[in-house]
Amino acid sequence: MKLPLPPLPTALRPKPKRPGEGERVKPLDQVKEAGIATVDWVDERTSLSGPARWVMFRKVPKGTNWFYTLGSATLFAFLSQAVTGVFLAMYYDPSVTNAYESARHITNDVFLGEFVRGMHKWGSTLMVILVCLHMARTFFFGAYKYPRELNWVIGVVLLILTFVMSFTGYLLPFDQRSYWATIVGVNINGTGPIAGPFLSDFLRGGAEFGATTLSRFYAIHMLLLPGAIIALIGAHLYLVTKLGTTAPPWLRAESGDGIREESI
Ligand code: HEM
Repeated sequence: MKLPLPPLPTALRPKPKRPGEGERVKPLDQVKEAGIATVDWVDERTSLSGPARWVMFRKVPKGTNWFYTLGSATLFAFLSQAVTGVFLAMYYDPSVTNAYESARHITNDVFLGEFVRGMHKWGSTLMVILVCLHMARTFFFGAYKYPRELNWVIGVVLLILTFVMSFTGYLLPFDQRSYWATIVGVNINGTGPIAGPFLSDFLRGGAEFGATTLSRFYAIHMLLLPGAIIALIGAHLYLVTKLGTTAPPWLRAESGDGIREESI
């Protein structure tokens, strides 16, 4: 119930609001409003909100657990390798005479060089471990089955490319260990049936191990493979978004349905 106003003199009565005069907007609300306006501005010109919504607001099956984060962990390991690799490439010289010296220079003289080189080195080991754990998770949870076979195949190619990434990176410091270990690795490749000798010739860049081998490994390591991995991760994540995540097998068994209950 609205109470009648007390009999106040006109000067003391609350003034009615003028048209257009609203509540005082708080600074935080202004910032929020500016954010929304910016997103709207971009969306009006690109219509990106639809695809963004498609990627972000997905149904996730019941029972997902920490094992489902291994794919994202692999992705972040890859991103960390990409960022640290860019900084290493700023100082590294892929020539047989300067490679070792430039790697030594990064470790001993460049600001945070040892830290960034260490991150790249240990990050590569971590990525190999994570990609294997992620593959084991998708295998044991039956995520390779219909309709995700293609994503499994893309995953296998990603696994091989991750290994080739480690193999080609190992030569780059060009010290005694990396030199001889790579010769052993290339020779092992050469023992493969039919394609083996061609593969080892391709990796060496000829019959002999030398200057071409190093620049070839460098080009494969920092141009060819990152490009291929980025493209394949894009396809991999597109399929994850499109097909949704597999429910844990014990929940699938309960409902007796392999596919439909995944969009619960
Ligand atoms: C660079 C390497 C890789 C990255 C960055 C990556 C990333 C991801 C991410 C973020 C997901 C969604 C989250 C998850 O389920 O964990 C996923 C799902 C999946 N990945 Fe990978 N992955 C990689 C390699 C592999 C490999 C080696 C395989 C198998 C051979 C594989 C097979 C799958 C499958 C089948 C799914 C669907 C899982 C489901 O539906 O539950 N991935 N991946």
